[in-house]
Order: sequence, then C-alpha cells, then structure tokens
Amino acid sequence: MNITNIFENNKKWIGERLAGDSEYFKNLSKGQNPQILYIGCSDSRVSSEELMGVEPGEVFVHRNIANMVPNTDLNVMSVINFAVSHLKVNHVVVCGHYYCGGVKAAMQSADLGILNPWLRNIRDVYRLHRKELDLIECEDDKYNRLIELNVQEQCVNVIKTSDVQKAIRERQLTVHGWVWDIQTGKLIDLKIDFDKILKNIMEIYRIS
Ligand code: CO
Repeated sequence: MNITNIFENNKKWIGERLAGDSEYFKNLSKGQNPQILYIGCSDSRVSSEELMGVEPGEVFVHRNIANMVPNTDLNVMSVINFAVSHLKVNHVVVCGHYYCGGVKAAMQSADLGILNPWLRNIRDVYRLHRKELDLIECEDDKYNRLIELNVQEQCVNVIKTSDVQKAIRERQLTVHGWVWDIQTGKLIDLKIDFDKILKNIMEIYRIS
C-alpha cells in the first residue's frame, strides 16, 4: 500500500458516488441521523461499515483497542452521550472479534506500558468469569470465549450509563452484543439475555 494511492482511490470513489447521485455529497453535508451506535475494535482487519454493508450516515462509529467501554474513559463516554442523547440512536452495538490481539495481550503477563491499565479491564472480565473460563481446556476456545464475555461486560458498562438507562425507559433503546468471526467473515449476534444479567445488578447501577 502506497500512501499516495489513497488520494487516487478517493478521486475514483468520488466519481463513483457522483455517477450514482450527483447530489450525493451535498445531501451528506446536510446532517446525520444514524439509528445505530457501533462500538468496535480498532483492528485493521475489522472493517466495520464494510462488514455490516452500511452506507455513510447510517452508523455512528467508535473504535478502540478491544472494543472497550471503561466507565472513566472520557472518549467512549462522550461518544455514548452524543449518540444516545443528541443523535437519539435506537440501538447500541458492542462488537468484538475472534482472535482479537488486545484480548490476547491481556491474557499474557508482558509489561505493555500505557496499555497495562487499558488491558487490565479485560483481566477484570476474566476474573468475573473465571469459573467458566478455567473449565475450557483448549486455549483458542478459552481466548474466543473471553472475547464474547468481554463484549457482554462492555454491554453492561453501556447500560450502566445514565444516558442509556434514560433512553431504555423513554424509547426502548436496545443494546446488542455481537462478535465478528474473522475466520469466516460472519457477524454473530451473541443474543445476550440482558434481563437475566441485569436482574441482580440493576439495583446497584440504577440511575433515575
Ligand atoms: Co481486536
């Protein structure tokens, strides 16, 4: 990949878009009304919009290492606030992917500097689900199950925010946990039963 090619690609893309609709960019500039907030991993192989088949304007996107939603991260918290309370999205998706390097790094003991506190959130997920994970003998299966459980816990972090709790009450906003299978290209809905998970913890996290 030559970086100067990117500008050539861009010119070609503009031509293709305008051939389909001469007002395309003029209309895009008028504003956005996405229905979905997608929180995914920064991994270069996980091309979020492409794998979902969505067009510009349809999905508000936030990506970071290992699709995390740390409660004190101003970046992801601002994204959730803006998407939910201002853009009024009706769906929040946390999407992980199998063979995530961030989750793999969290399972190892190497000192990774500034990444340590970020990845420690994943170790907390491991600790919360240790009983289940320790029963899995195959390392790959254990690794991929931790990826799914990390998605689940980040969804719970989404639900802990007051913006999301308010939107669930007022307009039935839905939170979804997905995982992308990098070996097949398939997007999988983990169908997380939030009612069951939240039943015992909402008395702690409820914000009215
Ligand atoms: Co990743």
